[in-house]
Amino acid sequence: MTQETATIRNNSTGEEAEFSLLKGTVGTPVVDVSNLNKQLGLFTFDPGFMSTASCKSAITYIDGEQGILLYRGYPIDQLAEKCSFLEVAYLLMNGELGNQQEQAEFEHEIGQHAMLHEAMHGFIDGFHYDAHPMAMMVGIVGSLSAFYHSELNMNDPEHRRISAMRMLAKMPVIATACHRHSIGYPFVYPRADLSYCENFLNMMFSLPSQKYIDKDNYIDPIAVNALNLLFILHADHEQNASTSTVRLASSTGANPYACIAAGIGALWGPAHGGANEAVLSMLEEIGSVDRIPEFIAKAKDKNDPFRLMGFGHRVYKNFDPRATIIRKACYEVLESTSAQDPLFDLAIALEKFALEDEYFVEKKLYPNVDFYSGIIYKALNIPVDMFTVMFTIARTAGWVSHWLEMMAEPGQRIGRPRQVYTGKNLRNV
Ligand code: SDX
Repeated sequence: MTQETATIRNNSTGEEAEFSLLKGTVGTPVVDVSNLNKQLGLFTFDPGFMSTASCKSAITYIDGEQGILLYRGYPIDQLAEKCSFLEVAYLLMNGELGNQQEQAEFEHEIGQHAMLHEAMHGFIDGFHYDAHPMAMMVGIVGSLSAFYHSELNMNDPEHRRISAMRMLAKMPVIATACHRHSIGYPFVYPRADLSYCENFLNMMFSLPSQKYIDKDNYIDPIAVNALNLLFILHADHEQNASTSTVRLASSTGANPYACIAAGIGALWGPAHGGANEAVLSMLEEIGSVDRIPEFIAKAKDKNDPFRLMGFGHRVYKNFDPRATIIRKACYEVLESTSAQDPLFDLAIALEKFALEDEYFVEKKLYPNVDFYSGIIYKALNIPVDMFTVMFTIARTAGWVSHWLEMMAEPGQRIGRPRQVYTGKNLRNV
């Protein structure tokens, strides 16, 4: 089959050249412009990478117009209904769902890697009690590179696999240790007899007075199921800002724990993973249904920096399938925990108002994954400043999967974008 091409013509010089068209399994074809500068003496300019593919990947596919999200080809709603988070993590990392033995071995190994080096507790204690948990996560995850560096051979697939397993295993332990430090409670160690999500709840809340752990160490299955669902829905999402950060950092061959810490820093921003915390703050600021029009007007006002947090998406120009699933789960969790949350009713009213407003319809701004997730986290007694930490735990599965995919690819090159220089021309001092 002849290679399909695209012709680019520079009308200011009359030069033109042909460039290969690359097509994936599905999705928008791309023009391979890697030789554009050599052939036509041009660079491309695409701030925010609105139309730029940075890599080839077989992990996740999103169709923004159709509201489709596939992890290794499986629709997100089927995985959310039929799998646990660790089954999805295995799928993302390995390309296929594990059979019973493979999954059991995977989960056993996750349990083996869950413990933190005792010295790390000293790092966590070094933070002031009111440090934001995401600030602690960036520091503590980055410090894993101080414990796992000298013996790491990034050219060895087994070293890479173990590094990925360590990160997935330790993330909830670090997350809960940061939270307990912020409330002055002692750390709780992971237990071999608990599942990934049960361990998270136990490490977060295990005091008899807490809702999920009573004197018989009963852990509420409603909370476990809700966490599995939320972690699955947040596990991966193609080349989003934080995953692209992990890939760019990893392209230099840097220590993988330091690269994941870079991804955590990127995820923290309110335009990205920090939106779930910002949604709750926004709902609390709006306060009541009668104030919704005032905030919708602010969101539409070009002179007002306020944006409706939890709305809009770079890729989804229709509904975010994850938001649809979470919205349904919100009802179930609130109903089953009989948690009356006026913020949920306010969220439903705000969604209705926005979806009937011509500005939001015209700009295709629909609720995204972060709009409802905070409501569930709040119903599970997760503190608001831990919401993006929850996103971090889940997205670690995606980050390490992209890291493994990228490091296994032959001929990996360092990422080094070009620019349009707008500064002073050559001049003498
Ligand atoms: C996540 O990339 C991923 O996949 C991310 C994520 C993942 O799983 O990794 O899905 C997770 O980050 C979800 C998004 C969470 N962020 C928010 O909810 C914050 C609020 N949303 C916006 O900041 C914004 O919608 C973004 C950042 C999500 C997307 O920004 P884009 O694609 O750069 O769009 P844009 O800023 O160019 O906006 C296009 C227009 C603009 O108006 P005009 O300049 O064309 O007149 O829509 C407007 C914007 O002003 N707009 C909004 C808006 N989002 C966009 N106006 C009001 N409220 C909003 N939320």
